[in-house]
Amino acid sequence: MSTEKQLKVSAIKDGTVIDHIPAANLFKVIKILHLDECANQITFGTNLESKKLGTKAIVKISDKFFEEEETNKIALIAPDVKLNIIKDYEVVEKREVSIPDELVGICKCANPKCVTNVENVKTRFMVEDKKKISLRCHYCEKLTEQDQIVVIA
Ligand code: CTP
Ligand code: ZN
Repeated sequence: MSTEKQLKVSAIKDGTVIDHIPAANLFKVIKILHLDECANQITFGTNLESKKLGTKAIVKISDKFFEEEETNKIALIAPDVKLNIIKDYEVVEKREVSIPDELVGICKCANPKCVTNVENVKTRFMVEDKKKISLRCHYCEKLTEQDQIVVIA
């Protein structure tokens, strides 16, 4: 095996590999998928070399298989993610993520006066533009643009 082919993060027997996460957003992905509260074995690597992204991060969650609805929530901050479903050491399925039509409780509204920033109200947005990413707040109707997106910690 050449050194290039060696895995930086060990292979898993069963579970999900989330590959091609922008390194800067690794911990946001962990938060959105609630991996910080997950008891399964989780390994990750970050600041790994990637031809496409420059640097990338990868997360491997043993014995966990996500619903598409759940993994689509990370498309906002990790649009190039490749999900690999592993069964008995083999990749049995590859999936991509796509931005959902509606986002609930994922990111903050850019309007400081919005009720979601003043009271304990969960944010809710309709995604108006999935390419440029532009989110219309359900409550104040103001737009939150891509460069304003702050993921709720
Ligand atoms: N993987 C793993 N455990 C396994 C099998 C695969 O952790 N038992 C990981 C690999 O390390 C890789 C990802 O799952 O990060 C996808 O595996 P594979 O399709 O074999 O790799 P590539 O061909 O490099 O896939 P891609 O080009 O889509 O990244
Ligand atoms: Zn708002």
